[in-house]
Amino acid sequence: MQKQGELDDDDDTVCLGSSFFVDRNYELTTFTFGSHVLNLLCLRSASTDYDLTGQLVWPGAVLLNNYLSQHAEILEGCSVIELGSGVGITGILCSRFCQEVLLTDHNEEVLEIMKKNIELHSSSVLTAEKLEWGNCDHIIQILEKHPKGFDLILGADICFQQSSISHLFDTVKKLLQFNRSKCRFILAYVSRSKIMDTLVVNEAGQHGMQVNEVPGTRTTITNLEGVIFEITLK
Ligand SMILES: C[S@@+](CC[C@H](N)C(=O)[O-])C[C@H]1O[C@@H](n2cnc3c(N)ncnc32)[C@H](O)[C@@H]1O
Repeated sequence: MQKQGELDDDDDTVCLGSSFFVDRNYELTTFTFGSHVLNLLCLRSASTDYDLTGQLVWPGAVLLNNYLSQHAEILEGCSVIELGSGVGITGILCSRFCQEVLLTDHNEEVLEIMKKNIELHSSSVLTAEKLEWGNCDHIIQILEKHPKGFDLILGADICFQQSSISHLFDTVKKLLQFNRSKCRFILAYVSRSKIMDTLVVNEAGQHGMQVNEVPGTRTTITNLEGVIFEITLK
């Protein structure tokens, strides 16, 4: 029996729910890509230990949006799915050119701010769904709602966690196979480690895909090297 004044190990454990750490002080921020100006709610910096990378705009999104704004013909009339959309900056730019754009992410908190940004742009072209890479149920549900599949899969700065890369390519493969004739994956890749550089190319190969660097897209972005890859089934 515990005597008065004695403490268990558990007694000094401070109980904080995960929401205690969530910063929701989103700021309306203006981004310009060529002649396209986008206003979006986002954080300016990451501030938690949780998987909330998607609350801010990453260099890969700037790279991809600059590329797409210069090559909008790629998007004209297309049906697009974006993986790991975060606040939605890439998909929202695409909605200006595409027939339909589905933004996806696995994080509930991120999906909430993404949906607010979709509301802000009130476009009938834009929708959002939860999609965890490698989750078969999620992808089946999405393809049931989009029986024609997608022309383009987009990803900006989504290769940063080694353990998720195989799952990412599982999902990409399902989407590419569903619309084999014309679907391709455009990935804005930002290099942060040599291990990841190799892993991405190897995983794509092991999933039966070829990775082609889009000529002229290799660039320095916030002191890192970025490049646009076009990835298709072999
Ligand atoms: C580094 S952020 C990039 C966000 C946005 N594309 C950009 O460039 O600003 C990575 C995004 O991928 C999402 N993500 C990470 N792992 C995921 C997974 N296993 N399934 C689905 N989304 C994931 C995160 O929630 C986050 O929104």
